[in-house]
Amino acid sequence: MNCLYADINGLTLAYSDQGTGLPIVFLHAFPLNRTMWAQQEDALSGRFRIITIDLRGHGESDAPLWHYTLDQSADDVRALLDHLGIRQALFVGLSMGGYILFAFYRKYALRVNGIILADTRAQADTEEGRSGRFQMAQTAYTKGPSAIADIMIPKLLSPATIQTKPEIVQKIRGMIEGNQISGIAGDLMAMAERPDSVSLLPQITCPTQIIVGELDQPTPPSDAKLMAEKIPGARLATIPATAHLSNLEQPETFNQIVVTFALELGRGKKD
Ligand code: MLT
Repeated sequence: MNCLYADINGLTLAYSDQGTGLPIVFLHAFPLNRTMWAQQEDALSGRFRIITIDLRGHGESDAPLWHYTLDQSADDVRALLDHLGIRQALFVGLSMGGYILFAFYRKYALRVNGIILADTRAQADTEEGRSGRFQMAQTAYTKGPSAIADIMIPKLLSPATIQTKPEIVQKIRGMIEGNQISGIAGDLMAMAERPDSVSLLPQITCPTQIIVGELDQPTPPSDAKLMAEKIPGARLATIPATAHLSNLEQPETFNQIVVTFALELGRGKKD
């Protein structure tokens, strides 16, 4: 993946921009970075313009020590689109990337011509979920990012992947351990404070595809079904034998869904 930098909203953001055609912007999960989309960029950049971003606090982007919000990340994405001269794009957000997409849609719906929500949910955190975020931030502070990798890997990947695909496990561990504690804690605060987006769902008027791994635990198929029921005309694809990081565990199936959706969007077909 190429690594480009842009000075945006007072910090430096890293991103990659590969290919030409319909722009597709990929927003990554917590606590990873844009390289989780490497197989999407490889497979799709021959037909589309693939943009992947290290969201603030992640990867090679700055991770300031301060208060983070998902609205700020949405503003960063919009500023990067302006920097690249892109008026509208198809957006793919996985998990936290999906939460940021809801924030983005609330503020900048006119910049969106289609949405793919993968392994994410519209509901806000429960009280228990918020207190879990606080505990995880304390763990990051006292034990460092490798302790976060120990907690997160079993949530992100299926047991079969963990047992049989050590290269994927290592890749995820490397991404998590490459983050700064300020970014990890900042994201946890931002996710804990995010508003409920269930009431936004009926107002999403652009073509929408939802994807979920059958074995996803953090954002299970029931969350995907709720989004599919409430977003007008949304389609739902469930990928069998796959957990939370469906794009990494089943890249061919995931990519095929994205390509089909993007080609239809390019032709102006709504559903
Ligand atoms: C993610 O994959 O982005 C996180 O699991 C989302 C979350 O913790 O809610």
